[in-house]
Amino acid sequence: MKAIVLLGVPGAGKGTVAAFVERHTAYRHISTGDMFREVMREGSPLGRKVASYIDVGQLVPDDMVLNVVHRRLQRESGKMDCMFDGFPRTECQAELLDELLSREYGTAIEQVFYLELDEDLVVRRLTGRLTCEACGAVYHREHKKTLVEGVCDQCGAAVSQRDDDTRETIQARLKVFDKQTHGLIAYYEARKKLCRVDASGTPEAVAQAVLEELKRTNG
Ligand code: AP5
Repeated sequence: MKAIVLLGVPGAGKGTVAAFVERHTAYRHISTGDMFREVMREGSPLGRKVASYIDVGQLVPDDMVLNVVHRRLQRESGKMDCMFDGFPRTECQAELLDELLSREYGTAIEQVFYLELDEDLVVRRLTGRLTCEACGAVYHREHKKTLVEGVCDQCGAAVSQRDDDTRETIQARLKVFDKQTHGLIAYYEARKKLCRVDASGTPEAVAQAVLEELKRTNG
């Protein structure tokens, strides 16, 4: 089992890059954000608890995050190459992940791609994002329109703005990134795992940069 991480500010394009990488490699996309949105859609007490953090732009507590990731890896029996998106998000999560990978699967994070993007572009990307309410496919009002307005190209369900993509919540998420996620960059830099990627280009160009670096290191 191999494992890589996509790291970056909200809206840097982690999910978009992951979809490209998934099409061209054996890495499978594991997004904690997607997993939490699935739990929220179920409307269970756990879903309501998760929503109480996400809707205000705060991080879900580390133990809940590790729990969903652990269960997902167990389901795959450790046989899949993983591409984590939006996880880990704190130094504590990174340490717990290193421990879990080493203990259960005898492996370690290979590489961490840090997608760098200026705040003004982040806000434009997030305020224009539309997400399918059923399958989670991601669109943009300007850069990636649906063929039929308001309807997902992939499954025909409605697309809408995520509840946490309002200007106010975006600002809260950016603050949280600065405060809690920045430590991660130093964590992976110290372990010589960090690869910085300019995320301001087209989706294809950003994904290509990641794929080339993966090819260079994996041969
Ligand atoms: P999560 O879903 O992970 O949100 P995020 O990190 O804020 O990232 P986003 O999904 O908003 O953006 P993205 O970088 O994937 O960008 P995308 O490709 O969609 O997490 C949501 C919440 O869950 C968190 O706030 C937290 O509360 C909780 N959570 C999740 N993981 C957690 C953890 N580990 N610990 C604790 N809490 C956790 O692109 C954005 C838009 O831009 C799209 O419209 C896209 O079409 C467009 N776009 C993308 N790339 C380009 C490009 N190159 N050019 C032009 N447009 C582009």
